[in-house]
This record gives sequence, C-alpha cells and structure tokens, in this order.
Amino acid sequence: MKLSTPEFRAMQSLPRKLGQRFFEMPVFRHMGLDLQNKDVLEIGCGSGYGADLLNQLNPKSYIGLDVMEEQIELARVKYPQFEFLLQDATDLSQFSTTSKDVVIIFGVLHHIPDWRKAIDEIVRVLKPGGSLFLEEPRGVDIKAFDFLFRWGHPDTDFGLKVLDEHLAKRGLTIARKQWSPLLTMYHIKKRNDQ
Ligand SMILES: C[S@@+](CC[C@H](N)C(=O)[O-])C[C@H]1O[C@@H](n2cnc3c(N)ncnc32)[C@H](O)[C@@H]1O
Repeated sequence: MKLSTPEFRAMQSLPRKLGQRFFEMPVFRHMGLDLQNKDVLEIGCGSGYGADLLNQLNPKSYIGLDVMEEQIELARVKYPQFEFLLQDATDLSQFSTTSKDVVIIFGVLHHIPDWRKAIDEIVRVLKPGGSLFLEEPRGVDIKAFDFLFRWGHPDTDFGLKVLDEHLAKRGLTIARKQWSPLLTMYHIKKRNDQ
C-alpha cells in the first residue's frame, strides 16, 4: 500500500539514509549479504537509496520495484543508471521462476495486506539455494510509530511470529536472525532442492 504523507517524508530524510547506510547494510553484510555477480531484486525500493547502496556490491543485475508512483519517479530521477519498476510485490509474474539469486527487503512486508502472497512470489522467483534478506519492525514498534508520528500503517495481521510460521510453511530456512531496536533482520535461504 502507498505510504501516508508523514511516512513518505520520513523515508526521504537524512536519518533514514544514515540508518540504511551505517546500520542496516553492515548488519546484512555481517549476516552474509554478498551480491557479487548475483541477480538481485529489491522489493519496495522506495526512492532508490537502497539501490545505490546495493549496487556498490557489484551485482550482475539489479531491479528495484515499488507500488508507489511517487517513489519510483524520485528513484528514476535520482538514480537514472539503475532499473526501477512500478509494480506490486504480490504479483512478480514478469519475473521467471528461479531467476533471482538474492531478494532484499528493507521494511516493506508490514505495508502489504497480502504479505504471504508476496513471500510466495519471492520463493518462486528465487533460485534454489537463493537468499532473501529481510528486515521488518515488530508489531509493537509499528503501533508506536503510528501513535507518535501518525504514520498510519495499514491494518494487517503482519507480525514476526506469523512471518516465521509462514516461512516454515514454505520450507524456508532462517539462516540468521538478529533483533535490534526497531527492526528484526533475517537472512532466509531457499533449499537447494526447492
Ligand atoms: C517503509 S517504506 C521503505 C522504503 C525503502 N525500502 C526504505 O527502506 O527506505 C515501504 C515501501 O514499500 C512500498 N510498498 C508498499 N506496499 C507495496 C507493495 N504491495 N509492493 C511493492 N512495494 C510496496 C512503499 O511504497 C514504500 O516505498
């Protein structure tokens, strides 16, 4: 779903960029993020700052997608060298099955009412043995942000417990999981025989 105006503004802010560059990326790197010669898909790429950071890791290919027109327009203006698509993550039909080595999500699933469908699509497009790097806030943090900053997140059943249950149901393995204030970060693997 589209972001509220306050959250959209916060996503363009300097603190958001500093967090992504100096905390989230190093933690993902520590958890095994390696994009050298990999086919990479970023879900909910926003205005493209993540694309800039991820492309410094020399992927073979990179595509960022987001459902919000305003975000994709900004991304295309700021980073014309990268490929961005206006696309809902619950429909990845334009990507072939087993075509991506790595899918990466910086805080997006809690915005998608049918987040299970997005996960199922990601599992389909990942190559056997491929990786999903994912970070999401806990339900309690989402409520705190809505209370303090009026971000107005959509009312979904998303939470880390149901996320873990769905990952297990889809036969995915949580290779690494790290809790930090505001975000829990995952390195999730698709089995080689999947
Ligand atoms: C909290 S923002 C994070 C943006 C960026 N990843 C970052 O870390 O700054 C969530 C992003 O997910 C996008 N989004 C929400 N629902 C989506 C969906 N169904 N498919 C793709 N993107 C979606 C929003 O438009 C927004 O850009």
